[in-house]
Amino acid sequence: MIDSIKTNLKAGLETALSAQFNKPISVIVEEPKRPNQGDISIPVFAIAKAIDLSLPETVVTIKDVIKTSGLAEMIADISTTGGFINLFLNKAIIAKGVFEAFADDEENYGSTNTGTGKTVCIDYSSPNIAKPFSIGHLRSTIIGAAIGNLYEKCGFTVVRINHLGDFGTQFGKIIYAYQHFGNEELVKKDPINELVKLYVEFHELVKTNPEMDNEARRIFKELEQGNPEYVTLWNWFREVSLADYMKVYELLNVKFDSYNGEAFYNDKMQPIIDELAAKGLLKEDQGAMIVDLGEQLPPALIQKSDGSTLYITRDLAALFYRKQTYHFSRCLYVVGNEQKLHFEQLKAVVKKMGYNYYDEFEHVNFGLVLQDGKKMSTRKGKVVKLIDVLNEAIDLSKQHIEEKNPELKNKDEIAQKIGVSAIIFNDLKNYRANDFEFDLEDMVKFEGQTGPYLQYTSVRITSILAADQFQYDGDIDFELMAHDIFFDIIKTAGDYAKTIEKATKEASPSLLAKYLLNLAALFNSLYGKERIAVSDMRERKTKEHLLYLIRSILNDGMRILGMQTIEKM
Ligand code: ARG
Repeated sequence: MIDSIKTNLKAGLETALSAQFNKPISVIVEEPKRPNQGDISIPVFAIAKAIDLSLPETVVTIKDVIKTSGLAEMIADISTTGGFINLFLNKAIIAKGVFEAFADDEENYGSTNTGTGKTVCIDYSSPNIAKPFSIGHLRSTIIGAAIGNLYEKCGFTVVRINHLGDFGTQFGKIIYAYQHFGNEELVKKDPINELVKLYVEFHELVKTNPEMDNEARRIFKELEQGNPEYVTLWNWFREVSLADYMKVYELLNVKFDSYNGEAFYNDKMQPIIDELAAKGLLKEDQGAMIVDLGEQLPPALIQKSDGSTLYITRDLAALFYRKQTYHFSRCLYVVGNEQKLHFEQLKAVVKKMGYNYYDEFEHVNFGLVLQDGKKMSTRKGKVVKLIDVLNEAIDLSKQHIEEKNPELKNKDEIAQKIGVSAIIFNDLKNYRANDFEFDLEDMVKFEGQTGPYLQYTSVRITSILAADQFQYDGDIDFELMAHDIFFDIIKTAGDYAKTIEKATKEASPSLLAKYLLNLAALFNSLYGKERIAVSDMRERKTKEHLLYLIRSILNDGMRILGMQTIEKM
């Protein structure tokens, strides 16, 4: 809200002064450091110099422009101190503006139209077939889904892509292992574990039987060429793996528009290899084909000596396919820090090919999940299964409910909403590129910087409003809202859209997460100091309108982050 006043003020002053003095005048509008200097201040020296008037004359000129501008009613008082004009905003009118903007389109409060007509592709989750869904893939899933929601809130068309790791030489190995020592029943019963076992077994045996490696390579080559026997097996492995991942997606309530993984690009790579060759970018190196990327980066390996393609070759094909199919204005890859080099190489190759959209795609990187300071992937030597972690969070949430509210109905359903949201929020409150500690006990607590704390705040407001059978009708005492304790909240509520914009632009859901924590804290502090159910009905209803606004933002923000909102807990 203050931001849009600042923008309008700057534009209004610049237009008026430029016209009056017949030359372009630029004006700085800022928020002063000290509260006694008002809400907005304008440094006058530079303007005085530009329009060639004394300081006092300039102040008068600027004040005159402000008084006749459409913003005059927003301003309660104007003062001057040491080369600055200080504006004190009319808080009641600003409060009115915030409530009106909210009531205007409640559901879309905070939405913007920066993305209208634009498409963004988001490549996230992207687990590797025949392998367990890892904690790293969970991070990608949570962060990617939230970024998708942020973009949608800004009006973009979002294409959510699960770039499954469903291709590569390892499939030659798994098929070999399955055909030599696999068992259909076992794979059907516990697909991922069984496929992992086969893969591990292959690696054990190949140590003493090196010819197995050649066999596996031959199988993969034939799979690439469409050998129906291998394609059938591959399809089956892919299906059973995906069915397993779907359980996680359902729990997280995450959806995709496309599951086109690496295999989808099998027949789309040759034209790119040809194009690279035609552009003179392909170089032979010990039988393999590479693109030299100069001093700064190691060369990109495009094709192995046996003719098979690589991860980066498929990413090139995927990028061109997405550009042609979706005409994206941005394409984001939500992938861990460890693939930094890969995406730098991808960018460098695209640049060398002469495509100007190399800066339209971006590696949205993220850090590791740690436990006791170490990478969380194994626990007591066993691989941590994601679904177990999620279930553990749900169980812990159930325990909390049993302690706090044993009478609650639908305990299991609510425990699931709390537990899963707790994991999501705990991830998103951290800046994504940083590593963070995974402490399940901590993240399911109802107090502190947790997901349940946000859910609990929303539930608390719901019960206050329900007790009074509150109906939003816009009958608000805006003068009351001008008092600091309320106005701090109004100001924050007015910053919702700005926060969304920034979080979207920086692909940083943590900005929204922190904003929501702050809003919840403001409510809880207000609730500690102010009685809501006062006997003066106008005051009571006004306060309830404010609570309604807070809850609406909290719930919408949680939805964007991928969390669930709750009525009772
Ligand atoms: N499957 C890959 C992995 O688990 C991630 C894929 C990311 N997306 C991409 N287009 N490269 O490491």
